[in-house]
Amino acid sequence: MMDFIVKSGLPEKQRSACIVVGIFQSRKLTAVAERIDAASDGHLSNILRRGDMEGAISQSLLLYNVPGTLADRILLIGCGKERELDDNAYRKIIQQTVTRLKNTSVTEAVCYLSELNIKGRDMHWKVRQAVEVTADMTYQFDQLKSTKTKNKRSLRKFILTVPSRRDLTKAEKATLEGSAIATGVDLAKTLGNLPGNICTPSYLADQAKSMAKKNRAMKVEILEEADMKKLGMGALLSVSQGSRQAAKLITLDYRGGAKTAKPIVLVGKGITFDSGGISLKPGGKMDEMKYDMCGAAAVMGAMAAVSMLNLPVNVVAIVPASENLPDGLASKPGDIVTSMSGQTIEILNTDAEGRLVLCDALSYAEKFDPAVVIDVATLTGAVIVALGRHANGLLSNHPPLVNDLNNASKITGDRVWELPLWDEYQDQLKSNFADMANIGGREGGTITAACFLSRFTKKYHWAHLDIAGTAWKSGEAKGATGRPVPLLVQYILGRSGKKKS
Ligand code: BES
Ligand code: MN
Ligand code: ZN
Repeated sequence: MMDFIVKSGLPEKQRSACIVVGIFQSRKLTAVAERIDAASDGHLSNILRRGDMEGAISQSLLLYNVPGTLADRILLIGCGKERELDDNAYRKIIQQTVTRLKNTSVTEAVCYLSELNIKGRDMHWKVRQAVEVTADMTYQFDQLKSTKTKNKRSLRKFILTVPSRRDLTKAEKATLEGSAIATGVDLAKTLGNLPGNICTPSYLADQAKSMAKKNRAMKVEILEEADMKKLGMGALLSVSQGSRQAAKLITLDYRGGAKTAKPIVLVGKGITFDSGGISLKPGGKMDEMKYDMCGAAAVMGAMAAVSMLNLPVNVVAIVPASENLPDGLASKPGDIVTSMSGQTIEILNTDAEGRLVLCDALSYAEKFDPAVVIDVATLTGAVIVALGRHANGLLSNHPPLVNDLNNASKITGDRVWELPLWDEYQDQLKSNFADMANIGGREGGTITAACFLSRFTKKYHWAHLDIAGTAWKSGEAKGATGRPVPLLVQYILGRSGKKKS
């Protein structure tokens, strides 16, 4: 991971391989650029006058040997119209900076963009975001290539500046938070990108074990299929019975808060490969169903961040991990199973397996006497139909929790959009032979999936995030996004700030 450092100091005095400075549209110098311009006898404004850079976002210009300065290079970054500089523009500006720096040979840079004014955002937010975006942009997954990407000379140290020494403490805290979140995102991406033949349920269990070794406040528990059978987890086990990989029910229990404080419980769908089972999926893009454990990866990533920051909260992560494959022993459409809750389920489609593993994990969550339970799952293709790939579906039985998640979402940029859980939708889950069917028809697919889960979450405050549209990218940029780890960590940070649970 990159080294992130904060400091304060005048741009013209920085001895660095590169300093990064913003230019607004049209050719308007930022305060920092003004200083360099003054120190260099108008060098910057002279260059801008020649028209090479208007200052639009995505524009940049690399200058060498600027007079009156001590840096080898000055990278000018377009910041767009000053009045339009918002969260998204800031993220794009940092992205552009990192893209440009990756194309140079600099190993270290001093970035003044954290001194830009952004509507409603303080230094802490700007520094943390810069750290998160930079780490995101420099992630590489090449562990399974026989020749690794050469990075002998690549950015290793990213220095962010603050206007005054008084801001340093706050900014340092922001880099720590940003680095912890970035580490969690990194873990989530890597678990997601690993193929199904490597990242199996037992692989996830081993990862959880090694996470627990790193922090005395974190315990791990792995339930085997025999344990799950004793608990009556017939729904979860019906999914793994068609696979040669044994299912695992993984629990990470982090106790950093008061003994009496009820934990936040995170539940992540951990289907390490979803073929659909006997209700087999079509072949195109089926490889992407290795990403069907991205909910698990996100909650594990969030735990990694919580653990790194030693947050004074209690958080439990539960991961029901299994493959979903067709086999002689696999469940068949029409099979009826009994869940841990005692409710019976008619499996009309074996491809609706996520809710089957989640429902038993959600019943299991009761034993932790949770303050809230948030499940995170690549649950339905329908959420992509409803919201595209820009937002997570959010469904909940507790409006204040929706409110808290909405607030956290605004800070991290992981968008959430609430969908209703009205009783009328519940009717779609009627079964002639069991308490419920595991599918509710084509209409409102994300909602009926959540309705199914809601029948197992009556005893606590609960929210469900359907991340099927946001957890990974398809096409040329195929890869896990590591989201919504930042949202989960932000939500937890918000709660660890509060006195009572
Ligand atoms: N893991 C899939 C959901 C999914 C599909 C996520 C495509 C991202 C892209 C889930 O297990 C599934 O197969 N859901 C079915 C439900 C249906 C059978 C009711 C779906 O969405 O088609
Ligand atoms: Mn499925
Ligand atoms: Zn699935």
